[in-house]
Amino acid sequence: MQLRPALNEAIERLTAERVPSPRMNAELLLMFAFGCDRAYLFAHPERELTSDEMSRYDTAVGERSRGVPAQYITGHQEFWGMDLIVTPAVLIPRPETEHVVEAVLQTVGVRPQASDHKPRASEEFMEVPAVRGLRSDARIVDVATGSGCVALALAKELPHAEIHATDNSSAALEVARANAARHQLEDRIQFHETDLLAGLKPPFDLVVSNPPYVGDCEEDQVQLEVRKFEPRSAVFAGPTGTEVIARLIPQAHSILRPGGWLIMEVSGTIVDRLRNLLEGWDNVEVATDLQAIPRVVKARKR
Ligand SMILES: C[S@@+](CC[C@H](N)C(=O)[O-])C[C@H]1O[C@@H](n2cnc3c(N)ncnc32)[C@H](O)[C@@H]1O
Repeated sequence: MQLRPALNEAIERLTAERVPSPRMNAELLLMFAFGCDRAYLFAHPERELTSDEMSRYDTAVGERSRGVPAQYITGHQEFWGMDLIVTPAVLIPRPETEHVVEAVLQTVGVRPQASDHKPRASEEFMEVPAVRGLRSDARIVDVATGSGCVALALAKELPHAEIHATDNSSAALEVARANAARHQLEDRIQFHETDLLAGLKPPFDLVVSNPPYVGDCEEDQVQLEVRKFEPRSAVFAGPTGTEVIARLIPQAHSILRPGGWLIMEVSGTIVDRLRNLLEGWDNVEVATDLQAIPRVVKARKR
């Protein structure tokens, strides 16, 4: 079969299976199966596919049709301008998590350098003057690092910072280490297999985290693909959604120096409960994303 009819057939199949954005998915999987870029797809519509290529494409489209996220099929996801490896052992990095990186950089008083990074947050958010008492050589720990996306972005942007990353999943840490090596950042990040911040040596200037924050009670509002294919321990925190964060806040308080910052990704569902958990902290701020959904909470240790 030629490339163009193969693409059209896949679009029809994905449409019939109600896969969102069927054309985009069909193109992405075709690029993956043939190891080519988008320009090639459109420059060579008459190219004949070998039986190996056809079989690889067919398998990929079949997987996507049964709901497997495209990133787990291709093994890749872009974050902060970096191509990251992803496996079913890690949460697929989300664009909204780039707000967390932006919040850290803004707190440290550094503008993003990655030439290929397009700011996610509003200009207003980025323009807030950074009189935060932090230096760009801060000691920072990324708790619940998963694929390592946040730690890697910070290592890239803050060449003088001392960066640590923790996760309690050895399989996730394996992926995070592979990503660090892939971007020549393996000497910049110290990985720890541990529960939240257990065993890390204080003091830190900044604790950052995108922890699990969905409650079991919200399960039916979570996309089926997420529930079926992403690691449950990366998404769900317990019955109400604040269970992991409720343990993280006091641990962060113990490990931070006075004046140090805690920055976390949150959801609109838990943000009000978080304000109570952060009683006794200074400068508690909530930043919204471009859809005006509360996304990042910052708090400063007294
Ligand atoms: C929401 S994912 C975030 C991954 C990554 N930071 C990101 O933003 O894409 C949460 C991560 O927390 C890890 N995790 C869950 N409970 C943990 C705990 N008690 N201690 C350390 N890591 C934990 C999971 O293994 C998962 O990798």
